[in-house]
Amino acid sequence: MPIIFDPNSRTFKLDTPHTSYVIEIIDGDYIIHRYFGAKIPDTDLTYMHFSRNIGSFFPNSPDTGIALGTQLMEYPTHGIGDFRASALMIRGVDGTATTDIRYISHRIYKGKPVLEGLPATYASENEAETLEIDAEDTHTGAVVTLVYTAFSCHDAITRSVRVKNASDKPFVLERIMSGGVDMPSSEYDLIHLWGHWAKERTPERTRLHHGKQSIESLRMSSGHQHNPFVALVSPDTNEDKGDAYGFNLVYSSSFVIEAEVDSFGATRLIAGINPTDFSWKLGAGETFTSPELVMVYSSEGIGEMSRTFHRLYTNNLCCRQWKGIKRPILVNNWEGTYFDFDDEKLISIARDAADLGIEMLVLDDGWFGTNRNNDDCDLGDWFVNEKKIRCGMKELSRQIHELGLKFGLWFEPEMISPISKLYDEHPDWCLHVDGRKCSPARRQYVLDYSRADVRDYIIDCMSSLIEEADIEYVKWDFNRNMTEIGSAILSPEQQKELTHRYVLGLYEVMQRLLDKFPNLLIEGCSGGGGRFDAGILYYAPQIWTSDDTDAIERIDIQYGTSYVYPASAMSAHLSASPNHQTWRDTSFETRGIVAMGGNFGYELDLNKLTEAERDAVRKQIADYNKYQKLVQEGDLYRLISPFKNRLHSAWEYVSPDKSEALLTFVVMRREIYSRYYFIKLRGLDPEKMYRSSEDGRVYSGALLMNGGVSMVRDFKDGDSIIVHFTEVK
Ligand code: GLA
Repeated sequence: MPIIFDPNSRTFKLDTPHTSYVIEIIDGDYIIHRYFGAKIPDTDLTYMHFSRNIGSFFPNSPDTGIALGTQLMEYPTHGIGDFRASALMIRGVDGTATTDIRYISHRIYKGKPVLEGLPATYASENEAETLEIDAEDTHTGAVVTLVYTAFSCHDAITRSVRVKNASDKPFVLERIMSGGVDMPSSEYDLIHLWGHWAKERTPERTRLHHGKQSIESLRMSSGHQHNPFVALVSPDTNEDKGDAYGFNLVYSSSFVIEAEVDSFGATRLIAGINPTDFSWKLGAGETFTSPELVMVYSSEGIGEMSRTFHRLYTNNLCCRQWKGIKRPILVNNWEGTYFDFDDEKLISIARDAADLGIEMLVLDDGWFGTNRNNDDCDLGDWFVNEKKIRCGMKELSRQIHELGLKFGLWFEPEMISPISKLYDEHPDWCLHVDGRKCSPARRQYVLDYSRADVRDYIIDCMSSLIEEADIEYVKWDFNRNMTEIGSAILSPEQQKELTHRYVLGLYEVMQRLLDKFPNLLIEGCSGGGGRFDAGILYYAPQIWTSDDTDAIERIDIQYGTSYVYPASAMSAHLSASPNHQTWRDTSFETRGIVAMGGNFGYELDLNKLTEAERDAVRKQIADYNKYQKLVQEGDLYRLISPFKNRLHSAWEYVSPDKSEALLTFVVMRREIYSRYYFIKLRGLDPEKMYRSSEDGRVYSGALLMNGGVSMVRDFKDGDSIIVHFTEVK
């Protein structure tokens, strides 16, 4: 039983295979947080109760005398004496915002509910149990339901919140967080993933300090700058040992994650929709559902925290049609041709692709509108440019399919160019504020996805092309963030709902397309990896990781991304050398080895490959087909961080049954004397014997993990090696 309720102590205990989470209802029906951490057998944690009465600056509950500002609250609310960051603030018709929720009832059931209109992890009745705690704010008539799901197959607990207006008067949600945890200590480091365009998800680790540390987005997108993820880890936690708590929002719009250390040394971690410029009016009988927060605890360091996220997202989040299914190896023409292509050029690339064993051609930006020869115009005009695709999209697709390839197409469905037919016809379809100028970015504006007519238009355009040209894959791009956030159809009081309404509209469009085309593969993209989040993964099981395709830079980016997201979520392509973003030369082999850490593909002009490179492509494709399952379904061990000394990086995938492992080692920069290097593998069975694909010798798992694999040889800058270990019985 993953979830139990002990009526004597009025305690809920949620268990996953190795973790426990405990909530207690105390006098006054306040909902108190008791414990989150390694699994414990005890249910009754009432001994942890304390009541501090420490003076007039910590007001007491009028019902119990407890100062709520000293307690570990399960879902803290505004205005009742807990002066830390609140999770919920409701403004009633009387204009006040004091919010006071008290327990009224609960339910425990098998499985996991769907979050209406929102992406979320999913689970069968055997995989999880759910607890719903109802609480009430009698003054406004809000019924607040805290929803917790404990997975029985992963060390993960998810949270979300529903608020129902059970009164006959409206009220306004001014702040509604998905959840978080109050911890009785502040002895933690905070890890988060920062970045910018072409440098996404760089891990940063800092000590918690008194006051607030927060990461957030106000971009109406999760953004390149901060991923909606943080970890709280003990100061001595590393990849292999120590406490690691991971928190990740399943959400793609403006978010905030705050860690606040109070004056007693307790830490509050709270995450949800960014309350800046957000509110939501709930009329009588209406309900609002928050996005989902995923919480993972590992006592075995950051590595096991990441592997838990990987398993959970691979099996219970990423677009379910694609669960366990290998995605096609593709060639994308973007860095190969940019806007300079026509149907003949595409067919000649497709011919080479088919000859080399590539499985899909993706036609990137520039195929639509009338003048899309640069990024100045035509977004929104999703009809084929017959000056470039002279034979028409249907015929181009037929020829590509005839070569045995699948066919994919780039769209940027949320955008509109001011120079476009669509803008001429519907200037009010973009986000804008009457009387203010729109700020262009890449010379484009953003469509107002809170509008049903806009959503229908986009679905119609995309559906007719997908149908007509038999499109199997869509690269869904999104190349700017929002400004002048306003909608022509929302009332003044609803304008603050737009950041959330927009993303609900986006999720609806993706879902309707998938309902219509269940075999469609959507790849997310946002100027590279600017919207790489768990919300998008629910619809698009893979996301373009970064516009930086330099293999050495990609090691950093893929390393940081792997803190949360599995290899199967990252798209990674081999591109030309010197690289178009950094002008660095890297060997064909290393470019391939790094790209094999995700969904593999090519992003160059295949017509320009030499014979030797063509042979290398054939070998890479054979290798990728051999290792793809191990990489994408195996356990990742990050062995040498690229950030450690900028000299080397190494990582390893181990199959779930520990019968094989794949080691990748890259020399990012060679020192004058190459070092003696023995890389200790991890995650193997010490009792098993493994044969190395490199020297053919058989080693015990114990030796490979304790003595290590020899990397003593004359490596040069950018050299790399991949070694496969297979069990010998
Ligand atoms: C973005 C994407 C690229 C490419 C271009 C096309 O930058 O990240 O991969 O599709 O747009 O304009």
